[in-house]
Amino acid sequence: MRDAGVMARELLDWYDRHAREMPWRVGPADRAAGVAPDPYAVWLSEVMLQQTTVAAVRDYFTRFMTLWPTVHDLAAAEDARVMGEWAGLGYYARARNLLKCARIVSGELGGVLPDTLDGLKALPGIGPYTAAAIAAIAFDRSETVVDGNVERVMARLFCIEAPMPGSKPALRDAAAELTPDERPGDYAQAVMDLGATICTPKSPACGICPWRDDCAGRAKGVQAALPAREAKKPKPVRQGIAYVARRTDGAWLVETRPERGLLGGMLGWPGGDWGEVAEDTPPTDADWHDLGEEVRHTFTHFHLRLAVRVAELPMDAAPERGHFEPRLAPSDLPTVMRKAFDLARGQLG
Ligand code: ADE
Repeated sequence: MRDAGVMARELLDWYDRHAREMPWRVGPADRAAGVAPDPYAVWLSEVMLQQTTVAAVRDYFTRFMTLWPTVHDLAAAEDARVMGEWAGLGYYARARNLLKCARIVSGELGGVLPDTLDGLKALPGIGPYTAAAIAAIAFDRSETVVDGNVERVMARLFCIEAPMPGSKPALRDAAAELTPDERPGDYAQAVMDLGATICTPKSPACGICPWRDDCAGRAKGVQAALPAREAKKPKPVRQGIAYVARRTDGAWLVETRPERGLLGGMLGWPGGDWGEVAEDTPPTDADWHDLGEEVRHTFTHFHLRLAVRVAELPMDAAPERGHFEPRLAPSDLPTVMRKAFDLARGQLG
């Protein structure tokens, strides 16, 4: 393997030619011409990109920047509006923390994001990964950014064969060893782009990789099998019931889920707790009709099977839980609730 500085420069040369275009990114040519990234845009994009693909994030990012072009605009937004715009992106704690963070930055920090790792990590929703990404990309600090792409690249380059997640510290050390002092923001994005476009999980395109002759995994012929992973525990299956009711005037009975916990702060269909068996607690007496078809949805820690029951409610219905939404847009719902809605709508006509 060549000297770390030489390798970093080689990768930056590759990035200058092949950087992916992204709506939040200041490309290498603009950066060289002195265009500085907007820290607000970098922060917003990196929060959206946590556990989420670039393809899924693109349109959400553009929409948020149109609705709320500055941190002050976002800080002044209504919670329900922001949660509604986040619907479908998943991991809803991110949206709640995004708002908390915007309000601190706008109200207490004069609208200026901190430019150090520690300053960033002190804010809600900014963990070690996101702090390093913002410090590097927005403020050109020499911080090491480690996401799944970077772990894969390092496991192959240094032929680290111990399985994840145990090998994470070694992968981080390897990434840190290569992080340069020059253009650290471009470098951080270059490693991620390399992992996303060339050093891909399956069939990596080693023939066109700028680091092909440095790669210990390739020399040994094991690159495609890295990083190894410890066998995962199977996810448990939980059962639940969603009660989807429409009042005669077309309003839907929904509830805002508690702030804490799964899908916190999002709109959803009333229903009992999800567990090994479904808790059967309808929000009101009605002639509930079970659709016979379940919604299936997978969360981080379990698979959900959600039975769907539908009913038409009279104008004088007074449910024990939830409230009526006269103009419910399906796009305001998190994906699992949207799936239940799609099933129910077919049935209710
Ligand atoms: N994934 C997370 N942040 C990214 C970025 N800035 N560029 C490319 N991929 C990313």
